[in-house]
Parts: sequence; structure tokens; C-alpha cells
Amino acid sequence: MTVKDSKRASIPEPSGLPFIGNVREFKSEDSLQDFDRLHNTYGEIFRLRFPGLGSCVFVGSHKLVNELCDEMRFKKSVQAELTQARLAAGDGLFTARTEEVNWGLAHRILVPAFGPMAIKEMFDEMYDVATQMALKWARYGPSNPIPASEDFTRMTLDTIALCSMGYRFNSFYKEEVHPFVHSMTESLVEIGNRSRRPEWANIFFPLSERKLDKDIKLMRRVSDELVQARKADQSGNKRRDLLTAMIVGVDPKTGQKLSDENIINNLVTFLVAGHETTSGTLSFAFYSMLKNPHTYKKAQEEVDAIMGRDAITVDKLSKLKYIPAVLRETLRQCSPIPGITFEALEDSLLDGKYPVKKGEPIAAMFSRSHLDPAVFGENAREFEPERMLDENFERLQKEFPNCWKPFGNGMRACIGRPFAWQEMLLTMALLLQNFDFKEHDPAYKLKIAESLTVKPKDFFMRASPRHGMT
Ligand code: HEM
Repeated sequence: MTVKDSKRASIPEPSGLPFIGNVREFKSEDSLQDFDRLHNTYGEIFRLRFPGLGSCVFVGSHKLVNELCDEMRFKKSVQAELTQARLAAGDGLFTARTEEVNWGLAHRILVPAFGPMAIKEMFDEMYDVATQMALKWARYGPSNPIPASEDFTRMTLDTIALCSMGYRFNSFYKEEVHPFVHSMTESLVEIGNRSRRPEWANIFFPLSERKLDKDIKLMRRVSDELVQARKADQSGNKRRDLLTAMIVGVDPKTGQKLSDENIINNLVTFLVAGHETTSGTLSFAFYSMLKNPHTYKKAQEEVDAIMGRDAITVDKLSKLKYIPAVLRETLRQCSPIPGITFEALEDSLLDGKYPVKKGEPIAAMFSRSHLDPAVFGENAREFEPERMLDENFERLQKEFPNCWKPFGNGMRACIGRPFAWQEMLLTMALLLQNFDFKEHDPAYKLKIAESLTVKPKDFFMRASPRHGMT
């Protein structure tokens, strides 16, 4: 045995069963509870095996997540759910492998389109959609329960569609959802199902397979129509949105433009990646504030002090200090993407002792590392926005690099972060300015709905208008 070998430790793993491996570890109402239990049993690292699908290592401490964020040793892994999501979004930014030519091309063309000026220009359209939701809530009256997650999802979907491609789903004016939205929701569920079974097993689900194919075709046809309509537009339309950036943008490095197919992949990507995450965060934020009324009070006082009853502006949003801390704390405790997956560029030792093979997926579980007492103290599970005020947040990140990663890592981090941030600040400010909120059911305990992201399930609030809508 060499000195190096003597330091090695094997990664703990539950014993599995023939044919199904560790599938039976998932027995709770949501998989986050199962991961929590597995971490409590096996510690900061463990491996699960799924015959026909392969194995995955899960890490849940800040120390190990920090190690994975080293882009010289690890990269984003596109396997399991992400491979399945490629059926709908192909080599769009989220599901592309970093080495694919189209990732670099779209990344370089789209980064400026998500820059500060471009996002500021989207403010009025964001305000427009957020106001549609607020007007609906005003009409609900104070005694009717508001389905918070559902309405936030309508709002974020309408917002990303309007701001990125000038398209109105008008979800607040229809009972029936738009066919695109229907197909998107259905296909996300089936993509999740597919990622939990081996490829060969799909043959036993012919109806689901045909339905998935139909849903994906519909989403891509609607996206294609939008691209072609914009290209054919002779009206002197001067919109400078993401669709325009993709149609006219030229890669500064290669001089190439995006193909129509890649534009469609990215339109689908923006619609999917750009709404559930933001709506989940807003729902978790309201849930957490209402369970911790002193934080709710502080947030509303801040809005009153900065906005008064005047219209909200981008400049005023930049003055908020407590509400950004509420959002950061929400994203720490309840990341809508609770973990992301890496793989080692070469056979590697994690923490100098746990061997992982090149290419094996390693999931960084933020649902656990964001609660690491070594970073956030013994009250890590408490909702305390104060720890996320600018100065404290900067100090934390300096002392514990990569301790807060809800937007992902390095070059594959979220391109939509500034978009989501502005939309969330605006929505929080508008709602707190115009309503007093209460929990519908004070006995409600957080339940999680899972698809590609997580969000609160069956969470209802009540809203009393404070005065006429501002
Ligand atoms: C990537 C989180 C909002 C578009 C990511 C990743 C995370 C994330 C964790 C990395 C995924 C991975 O490594 O596999 C979030 C959260 C959001 C949010 C928490 C809201 C609170 C948005 C919005 C958009 C968007 C609004 C679109 C406008 C994307 C895209 C990528 C991405 C295109 C892939 C970037 C690349 O790899 O080049 N996001 N996201 N996201 N996000 Fe977001």
C-alpha cells in the first residue's frame, strides 16, 4: 500500500438491491427530505447507484462544495435530467456541454443582452406584468386565499416571455393556460420521469413517449413562429430584447451568428429556466416572511420609507437594503435549484481522500451546504435576513468562498441573475407597498412541489389592499 493509498477513504453508500440499486432510498414526500436523511446517516458525502442510469456522488458540506467550484478540476456535468431536458432545449445555454461550440457562441452573444442597461430597459414591461398580478389580488379581497406559487408562476412566465421576445401569454386574463405553457408543464413532468428510468425502459411507456414528442414539437413550433415573425417584421420594430440579440448578434470571437435551431433552443431555455426559479424564490420569500413576522414588518417599513406611495423606479430599487437580504436569505435556505452537478476533469480525490472517477456525476447539494453550521452557525436553519445585509454578505463570502451558490458556478453560472433580481425586487416592493399579507392557514407547514425546480406546495396567502393601487 502506498502512502497515497493509505490516506484514501471509500465514499459511504447505502446497500442497494439487485436491479433497482438505491431507488428505494427515495421514500419521503419530497426528495429533499430523503437527501437530508441520507446526509444525517452518511455525513457530508455519499454515493447512490441506479442500475441502468449509473451512480452519483452527493456532497453536502461547504468544504466539499467549495472544492467542486474549482473550474481547473471540475466542470458542469450534463447527465440525467439535463440530458433528458435536451430533448426540448437541445444545445441551449442551460443544457449545452461547455465544450459544445454553440454554448460558447450563444454565451458570448447573450452576455451583453443580460447586461445592466439591457435589464433596466426591461423594467417597464416587468412592472406591467407585476401590476396585472397585483390588480388581480386586489380583486380577490382580503378573505379569499391566493394561490401564491401559481400566481407567481403566471407572473414570471408572462414576464420572461414579454421581456425576452415581446410575446404576451396574458395568463392573468385567461382561465385556460396557453397551449405552449400546457405543453411545457407536461413535458417537464415527463422529462423528470424519463430521467428516473433507464433508456431501454421507455419502450414500456409508448403513450407518454408520444405525448412528450407532441408537446416538444408544439413548443418548438411556437418558438419557430416567433423567430420567423420577428425576422419578417417590416414595421420598423426597434425592440432590443433577447430575441433581437439572438437574431442580429454576431460573436465577437468567431464572427458567427446563431442558427435558427439554436435560437429556438435558447427561447425554450429562457422560458423554462427563467420562470419557475424566480417564482419559487418569491413564494419561499413570502412564506418565510410570514412565518417570521418581524422580517415582514422590516421589509414593509423599508418599502414605505423608500417608495412611499409613489411609482416604483429602477433607481429606487437600488436603494433597498433589507429586501435584497431577504431574497439572499431565502435563496440560501430554499434554493429553487437545490443542487447542481459537476464532474471531475480527471480521476480525482475529494478532500484529498475520496476517490472519484473522471466523468462520474457529483451533485453539490445546496439544500444542505447552505445550512452548514461551520459557515452559518448553529442557527443556520433559522430565517435571519440580517446575516445577508451587504456588509455581512461580503464578509461571509470572503471568509467562506462559495458558501452561497443559488445561481450556480463560474462560467456556467446563471446568465439570467440580473433579470431575476430586478424582477424579484420590483415584485416584492410593489406587493408590500400595496398590500398587507397574512398566511391563509397559520398551521401550514412548508411542503415542497418538485419538477426541474422546487417550490412551495399548497401555499396560500391573503392580501388586504392598503390603499388604492399605486
Ligand atoms: C443557469 C439558478 C433565474 C436563465 C442557472 C444555474 C442555476 C440557476 C443554479 C446553473 C445550473 C447548472 O449549473 O446546472 C437560477 C435562479 C434564478 C434563475 C435561482 C432565479 C431566482 C433565471 C432567469 C433566466 C435564467 C430569469 C432567464 C432569463 C439561465 C440560463 C442558465 C442558467 C440560460 C444556463 C447558463 C449557462 O450555462 O450558460 N440558473 N436562475 N435563470 N439560468 Fe438561471
